[in-house]
Amino acid sequence: MKPAQQYHLDGVRKVFGRGQVALEGFDLKVARGERVALIGPSGAGKTTLFRMLNCTIRPTSGHLRIGGQEVADLYGRSLREMRRRIGTIYQQHNLVPRLRVLHNVLSGRLGSWSLLGSLASLARPSQLETAHRALTDVGIGEKLFSRTDELSGGQQQRVAIARVLVQDPDVILADEPVSSVDPSLAETIIKLLIAISDDTRKTLLVNLHSTDLALSYFPRVIGMKAGVKLFDTATSRVTPELLQELYSGHAPVNGAGEPYREPEHRRTAV
Ligand SMILES: Nc1ncnc2c1ncn2[C@@H]1O[C@H](COP(=O)(O)OP(=O)(O)O)[C@@H](O)[C@H]1O
Ligand SMILES: [Mg+2]
Repeated sequence: MKPAQQYHLDGVRKVFGRGQVALEGFDLKVARGERVALIGPSGAGKTTLFRMLNCTIRPTSGHLRIGGQEVADLYGRSLREMRRRIGTIYQQHNLVPRLRVLHNVLSGRLGSWSLLGSLASLARPSQLETAHRALTDVGIGEKLFSRTDELSGGQQQRVAIARVLVQDPDVILADEPVSSVDPSLAETIIKLLIAISDDTRKTLLVNLHSTDLALSYFPRVIGMKAGVKLFDTATSRVTPELLQELYSGHAPVNGAGEPYREPEHRRTAV
């Protein structure tokens, strides 16, 4: 049986090159299937944390366990296999613009195929079917053969989500996935990620610029500032004072730092 704990971080510290401390004394437990939002001002260490959670970088010190596995013990093949189990969606969606949508979607499989095998199979009907199903799940099935750079920003973000669906990881990390799309679309995309994690029971961690979206759609919210966790609590316990403290000394972002009002959609079904 798989351990219930997806992530277990214990006293994690990350120091970059010239002594830049990005994370300090970071403890975190995330259960399988849990949905967590991370908020905090720019430079708080959110992206650094995500890069650690998807095994792109390693802690300078402290313990990082994923599914009970100590990541420090993983190298080569075992590290690649661990990375394959974690899907990441970025603000800038990291797609290859000149490729057709289907190729970008199928590149979600690259972690698990040999390069040659993956290139040869890009045109196989079974793979087309896989890509089409994922694109249909994110609402743009008709874009299978479109050139990626001809899609809108929101559609490209859906392609990035479809790519993660094809990868079929245990965990989805989304690092500011909606910072470059307009607010109504942002909400649609967050709802889509929530629906996916609901349907597939994948663990979902989203790093958000908008406190409103975090508080509206996630049961647990972590506030980060200057490399440390300021709070980690049930959304219902996040107070205007906590948000004020989180963003003090920083320009308000999307309502952050302003008096908190219960968003309307928080009370309506998603
Ligand atoms: N590769 C890097 N080299 C040096 N410093 C870095 C690097 N990545 C991040 N940092 C620093 O670590 C801190 C946290 O950055 P980051 O994780 O990007 O924050 P956030 O995503 O919350 O805006 C910042 O001070 C940033 O300058
Ligand atoms: Mg960031």
